[in-house]
Amino acid sequence: MGKTKSEKDNWDANLYDIKHSFVSKYGDSLVEMLEPKAGEKILDLGCGTGDLAKKLSDCKIDVVGIDKSANMIKQAKSKYPNIKFSVQDAIDLSYNNEFDAVFSNATLHWVKPPKKALTCIYNSLKHGGRFVAEFGGKGNVHTITNEIIIQINKAGIEFKKEHFPWFYPSIAQYSSLMEEVGFRVILAQHFDRPTELTGDSGLKNWIDMFASNMFEDIPNDKKDFIITNVEDNLKEVLYKDGNWIADYKRIRVIGIKE
Ligand code: BEZ
Repeated sequence: MGKTKSEKDNWDANLYDIKHSFVSKYGDSLVEMLEPKAGEKILDLGCGTGDLAKKLSDCKIDVVGIDKSANMIKQAKSKYPNIKFSVQDAIDLSYNNEFDAVFSNATLHWVKPPKKALTCIYNSLKHGGRFVAEFGGKGNVHTITNEIIIQINKAGIEFKKEHFPWFYPSIAQYSSLMEEVGFRVILAQHFDRPTELTGDSGLKNWIDMFASNMFEDIPNDKKDFIITNVEDNLKEVLYKDGNWIADYKRIRVIGIKE
C-alpha cells in the first residue's frame, strides 16, 4: 500500500477490509507462485491489513509484514498479534541479505521511484533469494482513470499529472529495471484481470478508496459531480448485471538475486 494524498495516511483500514477484501483474495494465487517452504523467512512488502502475511504464517513461514500506512499496520497487528508487522517505506528499507523471498501483492504501482524500491528489495534478499510480485501494469484501469481526467477537465479544472499517483509499467520496462539492479528475471507476465466492484456504488467506492489523489484540491461538491458524470459515461462500458467491472491489467514478475 502506498500513501494517497501527498504524504497523509489516507487509508481507511476498516473500509479496506469490508469493501475491498478482493485485493488479498486475488493474492492467493500469487502465494501459490511464491511456493513458500516451512522455515523460510519472507518479507511481505505492502502487507495492508495482513491477510496474506497470515496465510504465509500458517505455512510455518517466519514472515515480516511491512506497509507505509500506519492505519493498515495498526489493523494488521490487531487482527494478527503474533505476526511481526511494522510501518516502513519500500524505498527506504535497511534489510541486508536477510530474506529467502520478498513477496508483494498489489502494492508496487504506488511506489516511486521504482528503481529505489527494487534496490531495497534486492538488498533485503539472501543470495539466491526470490522476488515475487504482482501489481498494476501498463494500461491498468485506464478506462476509469481516463474518464476521471476527462471529467475533471470538463469541470473547468486542469488535471495535473503529478496527481496521478500510480506507476504502471510494461513488462519490458520493469524487467529492465530489475536487471539493472542485479536480478535475473525468470518470469514476466502482463494480463487482463477484469475485477468486479460489487453493487451500484462499486465504482464510486473504488474511486473514494483508491483514487482520491486524483481529486486533490477539488472541493467535495465538485468531486461528487465529477464522479456522477464518470459513472454516467462508463455505465454502458463497465456496468453489467448490477456490478461494475474494472479494467485491471496486472503484471507478475519473479526475479532471482544472483
Ligand atoms: C491495482 O491493484 O491495480 C490498483 C488498486 C487500486 C488503485 C489502482 C490500482
